[in-house]
Amino acid sequence: MLDDLKKIKLKALSEFDKIKNSEELENLKVKYLGRNGELTKLLKNLKDIAEEEKPKVGKVANEIKESIGSAIEKVADKFDDSSVGDIQVNNLTLPGIKTEKGSLHPNTMMQYELEQIFTAMGFKVIEGPDLESEYFNFTALNIPDNHPARDTQDTFWLDDGNLLKTHTSPMQVRAMKKYGAPLRAVFPGRCFRFEATDASHDSTFYQLEGLMIDKDISIANVIAVMKELLRAVFKRDVKVRQRPGYFPFVEPGFELDINCLICEGEGCSVCKQSGWLELLPCGLVHPNVIRAGGLDPKEYSGFAFGLGLTRLVMMKYGIDDIRLLQGGDLRFLKQF
Ligand code: DAH
Repeated sequence: MLDDLKKIKLKALSEFDKIKNSEELENLKVKYLGRNGELTKLLKNLKDIAEEEKPKVGKVANEIKESIGSAIEKVADKFDDSSVGDIQVNNLTLPGIKTEKGSLHPNTMMQYELEQIFTAMGFKVIEGPDLESEYFNFTALNIPDNHPARDTQDTFWLDDGNLLKTHTSPMQVRAMKKYGAPLRAVFPGRCFRFEATDASHDSTFYQLEGLMIDKDISIANVIAVMKELLRAVFKRDVKVRQRPGYFPFVEPGFELDINCLICEGEGCSVCKQSGWLELLPCGLVHPNVIRAGGLDPKEYSGFAFGLGLTRLVMMKYGIDDIRLLQGGDLRFLKQF
């Protein structure tokens, strides 16, 4: 083994001596130090030699590697090529390497835009955890154990009893506990549901929850804020309709639908041929939720809404399949 190593060293050094350009240097590097290089192969056999031989042979092997390394360095210097092997020769006069500039994901752009609109209306922006406890995701939101509403949100449960948050609503209670009242805040976040995917459903999607807690808040406040929001996002008046909706954490609860902007209300796969899209469920915060947030519902009231951020992105950019958003296909993403 020792003989083989020494032979390789002599052979390598004499070959490095004769090199004429950086291409030859690169080839020789691969020949000796590459994954299947001569020296590399020999070193792989080190593990098979007798235990007492190992330190001696290991030492020689290292010396040889080092002398080949410094031979490379010397030659690389000669050709002034900063990209040779592991040796970085800094030459600040070399032209830079072009890298392609990335861009923000459409979800992120929409999130930033919404954050700006709400910040202008005096709302704080707070993000919550993706990993949530059963208490904040359900119980504190007036959805006790065994309540059928738990079944409407197919949940990814973890072995320890926690879960991946199914909606951004848990932040209502977390924020009230932390900041008290009065409070105006939005909570953008990623949500997870264990459900089959189709053009308008994915197991991962984004919401932006809103909460306003103060004295004498009414539905009029929700409607005013929502109208302002839609005008700011779509830069035009969007047809909306409001209908009663049931969510255990609001009373009364509403669904605010917008006219499907993909098909202009004609009916398509995104709006399930109805011409309308559920965009914004909302309502007045249930007294039990205000209590869970540590406040007195006799003194404070509030509204909450759960904006489908992903849906809004689809409407704004005319994307007709939600799966494109998480698909990571650069041909799609580069359009934004
Ligand atoms: N968290 C609900 C969901 O994901 C949406 C929701 C409904 C949020 C009504 C709200 C609300 O704040 O008031 O299905």
